Amino acid sequence: MTRMIHILNGPNLNLLGKRQPEIYGHDTLDDVATQCAEIGREAGLETLLRQSNWEGQIVDWIHEAREQAAGIIINPAALTHTSVAVLDALNTFEGPVIEVHISQVHKREAFRHHSYVSLRADAVMAGFGIHGYSLAMRHMAKLLG
Ligand code: DQA
Repeated sequence: MTRMIHILNGPNLNLLGKRQPEIYGHDTLDDVATQCAEIGREAGLETLLRQSNWEGQIVDWIHEAREQAAGIIINPAALTHTSVAVLDALNTFEGPVIEVHISQVHKREAFRHHSYVSLRADAVMAGFGIHGYSLAMRHMAKLLG
């Protein structure tokens, strides 16, 4: 059975490629999905990439991942810095969790330096642009063996 990786994305990441390209670059979330699917194919992993602007939807998708996914890659976007609900949901998931940020959050405003999600994440990528998702996929493949 092919193992499934859920790649979850939080608020405003639907605008990736259009939103503040000087910070987040010109690539889109579709480009991220294509790259992750390609790496998944090489590693025997299926991928499902989703994005929502709604905190509750992200929580529901994490609950779905409990039943369907071997691992979660998550860019919680602004929810990183605010959401105990997303952290609590991730704490119910038993597989590896990798947190991704396109920008180098530690070089930015102080409120971006704290992440609730990092309390659960097994690895954190920040500042690699969308390449961070590809690196996370490769690391996920390694963690899952
Ligand atoms: C982000 C960083 C967050 O601080 C911000 O709110 C985002 C995107 C990133 O990918 O760099 O929306 O998670």
